[in-house]
Amino acid sequence: MLIVFEGVDGAGKTTQARMLVSYLRSKGIKVALTKEPTHDLIGSIIHKALYSLGRPLVKNKQANLRALQLLFVADRAMHLYNYIMPKEKQNYVVISDRYLLSTIIYGIASGINKRWLIELNKYFPDPDLTILIDVRPERAVQRLNKRDVTTEYFENLPFIRKTKRIYLQMRSFHKNCYVVDGDPDKKHVAEQIRRIVDSKLKRR
Ligand SMILES: Nc1ncnc2c1ncn2[C@@H]1O[C@H](COP(=O)(O)OP(=O)(O)OP(=O)(O)O)[C@@H](O)[C@H]1O
Ligand SMILES: [Mg+2]
Repeated sequence: MLIVFEGVDGAGKTTQARMLVSYLRSKGIKVALTKEPTHDLIGSIIHKALYSLGRPLVKNKQANLRALQLLFVADRAMHLYNYIMPKEKQNYVVISDRYLLSTIIYGIASGINKRWLIELNKYFPDPDLTILIDVRPERAVQRLNKRDVTTEYFENLPFIRKTKRIYLQMRSFHKNCYVVDGDPDKKHVAEQIRRIVDSKLKRR
């Protein structure tokens, strides 16, 4: 079973993914936590690119943004076949901090053709459950400022506003996608998520 956390930068995905892992482990469920982009071969290139794309040295930004999405897809292929699927076979509940919806949303927000993005991702399986954490963009930025010393390419208020809007428009892209209000404190957000996950596990 694959549970995916989605949402804008600073929404609280990593925080909530970790809280959900502790919760499920406390119930004796086997859980594997993972994330995209990974820190494997291709994921490491992505992390480098995210810190360099905004720099003036990069001339053809559009070409690079397309190349970046291709890297995300290649990283996902490795992630899925080398990690997610083997863990699922061993009966783990796999929790991924971002997955293919991120490519589609960030790609569209970067001005890339939506059909092309969907085509690139069409052979990847849907998650069993997607938790879309929705926050006010100003709040996301506040949280990011609290956390980071360095800023990645996509972490700025106008882009976060845009990705929030596209996330909500695309909320039905995956079946079993639940939008959770990420504005309240961590515990309240976690409670909303537990309810959704508990009822999904009961139906398993
Ligand atoms: N509900 C919350 N209330 C207050 N602060 C929060 C809440 N959730 C997360 N935070 C804090 O906000 C910051 C960003 O959260 P987090 O790293 O989980 O976001 P994220 O969605 O994973 O971001 P990114 O997409 O950049 O990885 C962290 O410092 C975290 O402790
Ligand atoms: Mg995170």
